[in-house]
Amino acid sequence: MEQTLSIIKPDAVAKNVIGKIVDRFESNGLRIASMKKIQMSAADAGKFYEVHAQRPFFGELVEFMTSGPVVIIVLEGEDAVAKNRKLMGATNPKEADAGTIRADFAQSIDANAVHGSDSLENAKNEINFFFARREVL
Ligand code: CMP
Repeated sequence: MEQTLSIIKPDAVAKNVIGKIVDRFESNGLRIASMKKIQMSAADAGKFYEVHAQRPFFGELVEFMTSGPVVIIVLEGEDAVAKNRKLMGATNPKEADAGTIRADFAQSIDANAVHGSDSLENAKNEINFFFARREVL
């Protein structure tokens, strides 16, 4: 069993498709171990995405992720990290396979509906960034 972190980004929250995205996870063998809606501060987003701090898109990324509420989810299941990434589709929705979350709900590489941890190690760090142990059940 693995756990991974998903973020439903401000664009998808604004489109009122939280439930539709959660259904993709639950219908594909992933379980919601924790879920909360938060407004990220610039400090939160900067720290969460610090690996991208030197990338040219960093400023826009922080601006976008703080533009409205997000839903933070801990997903659990067999091969949860890889399974979630498959369900999300490519980072750029224009390159995402048909039927993936990004193909169906995202507009652009910034407003790309969801984030998902890219490795088991990052998943652990990302879960610890947002959740206390007693909140993950
Ligand atoms: P995410 O999985 O949340 O991780 C970093 C985010 O940066 C990514 O999704 C995209 O929304 C955003 N981003 C913007 N431009 C790029 C880019 N050129 N390459 C990768 N990610 C980008």
